[in-house]
Amino acid sequence: MTTTSVPPGEESAEDPSAFDRSLVPFLMNYKFGLDEILTKINILREELAFRGTGNPIEHVSSRLKSPESLRVKATRIGCPLDLDAIGEQILDIAGVRIVCSFIADAYQVLDMLTTQPDVTVRAIKDYVANPKPNGYRSLHAIVEIPVFLSETARTVPVELQIRTVAMDFWASVEHKIYYKYDKDVPGELVEELSAAARVAHDLDTRMAELHRIVHG
Ligand code: GTP
Ligand code: MG
Repeated sequence: MTTTSVPPGEESAEDPSAFDRSLVPFLMNYKFGLDEILTKINILREELAFRGTGNPIEHVSSRLKSPESLRVKATRIGCPLDLDAIGEQILDIAGVRIVCSFIADAYQVLDMLTTQPDVTVRAIKDYVANPKPNGYRSLHAIVEIPVFLSETARTVPVELQIRTVAMDFWASVEHKIYYKYDKDVPGELVEELSAAARVAHDLDTRMAELHRIVHG
């Protein structure tokens, strides 16, 4: 996305207030990108409910990165505080989390969204098939979606995280522990989390089997 709106001569690094002002319309585009994706998800939910084929989506949440967390991430990854650079390097400014009942539903929802013709897939990371070393599982995708404004159109990246209820429960507990210990989790807790991740995955597998027995 190319949307630098800092006027010439007002360098953002030297004038943080000009940078902050330019962030408002910049972030608004991402908010519109979120709106577009959320509409797509709501349409799928409503149509699937109408068809009576079972609802694969348990709940949906979304967030826009705050100017503060945008600054923190830019600094962490060594990205200059410049809207063009931020637009290119930070792809999770708009984020949507979709929580499903079953693993198969997570893949199905990812497929239903990423095959829509106005959605472009920029990256997919399958942490369900290939969990992180700590046990984290989820399907991640960066998708791009067009947003039509009064005078122009923009393509906005949105990060999708799609996971089961069990994966979501694990991730939320792990996240709290990670921050409680300021990213330096004691070894025995790392072990415990890893064991809990295996239990969560076992639950997902058993639930899928029960579902198969009941619904064929
Ligand atoms: P960030 O720079 O942190 O956004 O991550 P990344 O660019 O390395 O991408 P990745 O796909 O690994 O992670 C994106 C997001 O997934 C994170 O910001 C978290 O919201 C979530 N996530 C990734 N790994 C973990 C994990 O180990 N535990 C939890 N709780 N969440 C995770
Ligand atoms: Mg992130």
